[in-house]
Amino acid sequence: MIKASDFGPKFTWGVAAAAVQIEGAASQYGKGPSIWDTFAAKSGKIKRNHKLDPACDFYHRYVEDIALVKLLGFKVFRFSIAWSRILPQGRGEVNQEGIRFYHNLIDECLTQGIIPYVTLYHWDLPQALEDEGGWTSFSINAVFNAFVSICALEYGDKVKNWIVLNEPFGYTSLGYMLGVHAPGKTGLSNFFPAVLHTALAQAEGGKILRAEVAKVNIGTTYSCSEILPYTQSDNDILAAKRVDCLMNRLFVEPAQGMGFPTADWDVLEKFQMEYGTWRLQDRMKFDFDFIGLQNYFPLTVKYNAFIPVIQAWEVKAKGRKKPHTAMGWEINADSFYNIVKQFASYPHVKNIMITENGAAYHDKLSNGNVVDAERIDYFKLYLAALLKAKNEGINITGYMAWTLMDNFEWAEGFNARFGLVYTDFHTLKRTIKYSGYWWQEFLKA
Ligand code: NOJ
Repeated sequence: MIKASDFGPKFTWGVAAAAVQIEGAASQYGKGPSIWDTFAAKSGKIKRNHKLDPACDFYHRYVEDIALVKLLGFKVFRFSIAWSRILPQGRGEVNQEGIRFYHNLIDECLTQGIIPYVTLYHWDLPQALEDEGGWTSFSINAVFNAFVSICALEYGDKVKNWIVLNEPFGYTSLGYMLGVHAPGKTGLSNFFPAVLHTALAQAEGGKILRAEVAKVNIGTTYSCSEILPYTQSDNDILAAKRVDCLMNRLFVEPAQGMGFPTADWDVLEKFQMEYGTWRLQDRMKFDFDFIGLQNYFPLTVKYNAFIPVIQAWEVKAKGRKKPHTAMGWEINADSFYNIVKQFASYPHVKNIMITENGAAYHDKLSNGNVVDAERIDYFKLYLAALLKAKNEGINITGYMAWTLMDNFEWAEGFNARFGLVYTDFHTLKRTIKYSGYWWQEFLKA
């Protein structure tokens, strides 16, 4: 049986969340609309047409929610700042009420002895900026930098741990290539410029924090998945390599000063030539203090000539009769271990934190309890795999569970429950799940 103390006394244990998913008050207190407000209001974009607002109403209940973080025994709460709460138009006039809200939230964390880890961008671009092209537009970098500067100057005395971006591959691919997330754009002509400006933003955001916050600890996060070929055929192996370039290597390598992984996928070579990205290699480089990895599943892929561009196809866990969560995501802790090792092999990745990991299940509240034994098993497996990697010498310094409470799971709406705390979306009452109590015990030992 593993214990939290096996990870050492300095290991950071936390729980994570994001503004859109929990805050609510989407059009109150001076907040401008974000692309998620616009997207979620359109019919057919969110499962069962769930409405985003009031989500968990965290805006009004953060005091009790931070008390939950503390009660469960976590030392860190990771949350994000809604850009359009600070700058309703994305640039220009600052909304003092928004500024005050995050001061209050940060102060409450500190009062309750919880260390805030603040994410600057967790997918909620101000709609006003999207109207100018959003991440596809070259002008996005200057406005993002200005937003980072405002946050750094405003909160930098109290917040020392910062995360520049949350899962850049997540929002550029789902939002600008596949169109299933906000802002709902599609195609490579949107995806590639969004990738380029995002790669610049991650480095420039880091540089601004370094210049403006004393004794700062700067990270950024990446979604990551071990990519396994379905068979050992050359075609499947090459398909897996292409998907790896896209899903794992696309943003970490530019930050290392390596540019985009063009050598292993000719489509990226074309992208580099078309946008002249090689000229920007230095601007995309930044020496992060830590890299945040977010892992949920591995992917098994097969060559398929009919799939445009990537020519690869996912062979789903369910079809292969593999254990999976309610999202259909394969449960495979060995793949977690392998992908952590893959990222640790970059020379400049000197410190890894797991900034998200967790599982959704069909939780039911019955007699005031949520008995989510599967989620507990999931955490046990994944934590054991992480400890193995740590004990082999990888510098893994923290782990943050996803997520504090059931919340708005993007296009899945409120159906996908990832929380350690159950949210009743009618009454907004919070109930600690068995997995929450499991964490409480785990963190004591
Ligand atoms: C990644 C995202 O950062 C988070 O917002 C999301 O809810 C989880 N993964 C689960 O899908």
